[in-house]
Formats: sequence, structure tokens, C-alpha cells
Amino acid sequence: MFETLKAQPADKILALMQMYKDDPRATKVDLGVGVYKDATGLTPVMRAVKAAEHKLWETQDSKVYTGLAGDPAFADAMIKLVLGDAIPRDTIAAAATPGGTGAVRQAFEMIKMARPDARVFVSNPTWPNHLSILKYLDIEMVPYRYFDDETRGVDFDGMIADLKTAKKGDVVLLHGCCHNPTGANLNMAEWDAVIEVLLKTGATPMIDIAYQGFGDGLEADAAATRKIVAAVPECLIAASCSKNFGIYRERTGLLLAIAADTAAHKLNQGTLAFLNRQNFSFPPDHGARIVTMILNDDAMRVDWMAELEDVRNTMLGLRTALAGELQKLSGSDRFGFLAQHRGMFSRLGTTPDMVEALREKHGIYMVGDSRMNIAGLNDETVPILAKAIIDVGI
Ligand code: LMR
Repeated sequence: MFETLKAQPADKILALMQMYKDDPRATKVDLGVGVYKDATGLTPVMRAVKAAEHKLWETQDSKVYTGLAGDPAFADAMIKLVLGDAIPRDTIAAAATPGGTGAVRQAFEMIKMARPDARVFVSNPTWPNHLSILKYLDIEMVPYRYFDDETRGVDFDGMIADLKTAKKGDVVLLHGCCHNPTGANLNMAEWDAVIEVLLKTGATPMIDIAYQGFGDGLEADAAATRKIVAAVPECLIAASCSKNFGIYRERTGLLLAIAADTAAHKLNQGTLAFLNRQNFSFPPDHGARIVTMILNDDAMRVDWMAELEDVRNTMLGLRTALAGELQKLSGSDRFGFLAQHRGMFSRLGTTPDMVEALREKHGIYMVGDSRMNIAGLNDETVPILAKAIIDVGI
């Protein structure tokens, strides 16, 4: 029967990972998949994660199922991390999911269940898997302008004009911080204007927050999300622990659904549990438990925050160094945007041909849309990348 299957298009990011692996050049540089790497190219297990795993190994006496929505203690700890005290806890339905992608997938399914004709507004560009999952679920997408190819910042006027065409029953997908793939982000005044449009149109925001702590810090990166949830009646939030806890393969994420009233809240919570049951039953627990232990233990939390700050500052240092090197080589400020962008990624804003030239000629791997993983660099490779960018004529 399976001869009827059609070959599916390869995921751009994952295909690039394979190409990099297959390249025999010792000088190759991987700026592809969004994974943090230290100066030696290692994606380390964070100290607090090791400590929590050690403690868990010593103390855990059962691996029996948790709840369908995961351990409520995980939801409580994560809600505090993402939302602080922005809204009362009793309006927030929550379910643990396999990674942030699992949360995104469940959120889209919930949207489809509630409104089969909902349109989801997506930034142009957005994370390719957003588009792929929406297409798979046959949900209509409407791109809104986001990245300005000239300034490499946000095309804010274009974004607002496009969002104004949303209506009640539509969903606006936003990146809470550290926009993926561009690295270009809104300032707080611009977020206020987005909130105003959401309130005027009645469209429901869905916030994907996968990089909290990688931009301007844990609190600053959550500020927009907190402002939005405090202002709008309903909201979906997909949060990931993959990057800020460095537990990529543990698949640890959380979906939050914020309701306008208690009746809706009950329905939301029941729907999240139902969706988990249909798709994978109980969510993975190991990563969620580690995160809960870290967030609820003063010493481990402080150590985790300190290491996360080091990670963030390393990436900021690489940004400044790359922008500086390019300024020296080009004699212009046209790469200054690299120091302004935040998070793991920056979109260089060049053509697929140039991206290919960087790969073929210099063994530098970035996604075809010219997204670079800044964390893939180190002090040695920053000047190599800068020279290559100028060499291919970007
Ligand atoms: C990325 O954008 O590179 C990461 O979110 C990893 C992934 O799954 O694509």
C-alpha cells in the first residue's frame, strides 16, 4: 500500500545539517541549525542540568505516568518563568509537549478544532517548520511583512498595515523574542502598536517563545509576551526549553492557552489534555522534571541563570566582533545590523547564490535564506567568515 506515498520535501535546516556532516573540509564552519555551541564547537550539558539529573537519579523512585498535561509543577514553574505575575494563574491552561515544536503543533490543532476556517498570519519570513506544519494541517496562512531587506530591521509599517487586515477568528503568530530566522525584533513601543491592532481587529495572538534568555536577558525577552497576555482576552503561547536549558533532545516544551473567563479556561484545559492523548498520550517527563527542579531550587536556578547569561553574552560578543570585522574590511557600516539583531540568528540579507558561494568556496554553511547561527562562530572563525562575506561580494 505504501507505494502511493509521495516523497516529501526535505526540511531545509535539517538537510543542511547533513550536507555539513558530509563535507570533508577541516576548515568548514557550521552556521546552520539553531543549536548553541561553545568556542570548541561543543553543545554542552549545562551545569544545573547535570546537577538536577544527578539528584533525580538519586531520588526518583518511579517512572509511572504523570498527568496527560504533564506534571502541574512543571507548568507552574514555566508559567512563572515566561509570564511572571502578568496575569492570574487561574486563567491559564497548560500542557507539557514534546519540545516547543510539539507545543506549536498542538496549538495549531487547537486553532483548527475551534475554528476550522481560521487563518494564521505568519511573519515573512518565519521559521520554516511553522509553514510546514500549517500546510500539513491544511490551515490557511497569510504572510505579513516583517523583514526589511534594505535596513535588515523590521518593516514595521508594512507589518502593521498587514496585521490590520486580520479579523476576529484569525490568529497572528508572533515570535516572543529573538525572531527566527531574521534576528530583527520589535521594540516595546512597536509591541504596543501590535497590541493595539490585535485589540482593534479581535484577532488572537499566538506567541512562539523558543529563545527566552538568548536576546536581552530572561526578563527582557519575556516582556513583550507578558504585555500581550495582560492586554488581550485570549492568547496561545508555545514555549521551548530546548535552547535556554540546552536540553534539545529531551523534547521539553509547554503550550499555554489563556482564556477570557473561567468556563473557557476549563474547556481549554480539557482540550489540551485531549490533544495530548490523541497525538502521543503522556508528554515526555525527563526534561520537564529537570527544568522544574532547576527553577524550584535556589542554588540550581542561580547557577543556570549565570550560565545562560554567559551563553547570551558570548553570542553578543560574537555579534559585535563580526560587525566590527566587517566594518574594517568593507569600510562601511552596512553590516552594523549584525550587532543590533538579537538571539541566535541573523539574516544576512543576501541571495541564495551568495549563500551557495560561501558554502562551495569557503565551506561556510548557513540556511539558503542567509540565516546564520551566530553561536556557530568563535574568535577564530569570525574573521574567516568576514573575509569570505567580502570575498564573495556580499
Ligand atoms: C532552528 O530553527 O534551527 C531550530 O529551531 C531547530 C529546528 O528544529 O529547526
